[in-house]
Amino acid sequence: MDHISLDRQARAILTGNDRGGYTVPTAGLYPYQWNWDSAFAAWGFAQFDVERAWTEVETLIAGQWDSGMVPHILFHQPDPGYFPGPDVWGGTGPIPSSGISQPPVAATFIRAIWEQDRAAGAARARALYPKLVKWHQWFMDWRVENGAVCITHPWEAGRDNAPDWDGAMAGIDPVGVGDYTRRDTAHVDAAMRPTKYDYDRYIWLVQMGRRLGWDDAALKAQNPFRVADPTMTFILMRAHRDLAEMGRTLGEDVGRIEAWIATLERGAEALWNPDLGAYDALDVKAQKFAGCVSNASFLCWYGGLDDDRMRPQIARVWNAVRYPVPSLEPASDRFDAKRYWRGPTWAIMNALISLGLRDQGLTAEAARLRRDTATLIAEHGFAEYFDPHTGAPAGGGTFTWTAAVWLAWASPSAGDD
Ligand code: SER
Repeated sequence: MDHISLDRQARAILTGNDRGGYTVPTAGLYPYQWNWDSAFAAWGFAQFDVERAWTEVETLIAGQWDSGMVPHILFHQPDPGYFPGPDVWGGTGPIPSSGISQPPVAATFIRAIWEQDRAAGAARARALYPKLVKWHQWFMDWRVENGAVCITHPWEAGRDNAPDWDGAMAGIDPVGVGDYTRRDTAHVDAAMRPTKYDYDRYIWLVQMGRRLGWDDAALKAQNPFRVADPTMTFILMRAHRDLAEMGRTLGEDVGRIEAWIATLERGAEALWNPDLGAYDALDVKAQKFAGCVSNASFLCWYGGLDDDRMRPQIARVWNAVRYPVPSLEPASDRFDAKRYWRGPTWAIMNALISLGLRDQGLTAEAARLRRDTATLIAEHGFAEYFDPHTGAPAGGGTFTWTAAVWLAWASPSAGDD
């Protein structure tokens, strides 16, 4: 299919998943507004409807809690097709929500949307800016350990069942979790989703958060799950840089944000696993590395680090598959080509990795990843994720963020070639 038809198809996916002011990731499997999905959606909308892009991020930020946290799911309207819903989470914000956050790509894409039309977006950027600062401050206050950004639930990283959390998950005994019915496996082949072992622990962690009223201090003291995560660390580092840039344009004092960037730049070293020779997740409670070269390990450049140490790693992982970048290196005994974040390739992660490669001057690699991702989508559709060996689509179909990164980045219409 030619890229003009694919552009049209991608736009139709975004408008088809539009529920009026927010976009669902895909009908059925994910019937609400997800935080980072929504920011990607806005980036996609900005390619053909800037007004709609602004609305997407404004609806997301409208869910911000008093603490500054912006939840990972906003449950705008009830939907029995998803579990766990608002009744299980018991979120305490202005819109029914989950009680955890998600990788804050929003500031980066808000800056990109604003740059489409500075004058038209000025008032909207000005209104969002202090809310973004408050959200980033919340991360710095509650999620940082030695300068690395932690997650308190696997869903907070967005990489639910990544092997990065296996050690910390093994430390949880999900006693008393009770009976529940999963809905995800009614929509998607169970072999492509997390296991019951994972879900028992996911739900146990939600129940604990709810019991503690989602109080950040109480959770910090009592939650056994606290893992310093390359996704969060590099994405927040990048988001701080884009937020600071917005602040400068708005004439704000960005000293505080610059200090946060310096903290995370120093902290990134805490994620360097010398035995692995790669950025890795670190279980903060056990002080143990996960031992995983994941696609998040390659976000270092996106974070803004000029770091050559990961170059041989990406070359090695790249050469091990036909459709890069797998979410786990295929040489790992935990690699599973179809199971969500344990092997499949994700177009959104490729977009972030490629933007980082480009920014660090690795332009040939950046362009190659863009081309490979365009080929993957052109051959196999707008799936949630893909088998990195065969390209077979996996998870949900007609997926918002895959369509969004097609429009904003992968499509030949999006770039210079
Ligand atoms: N990704 C999770 C799910 O699959 C929630 O964030 O339901």
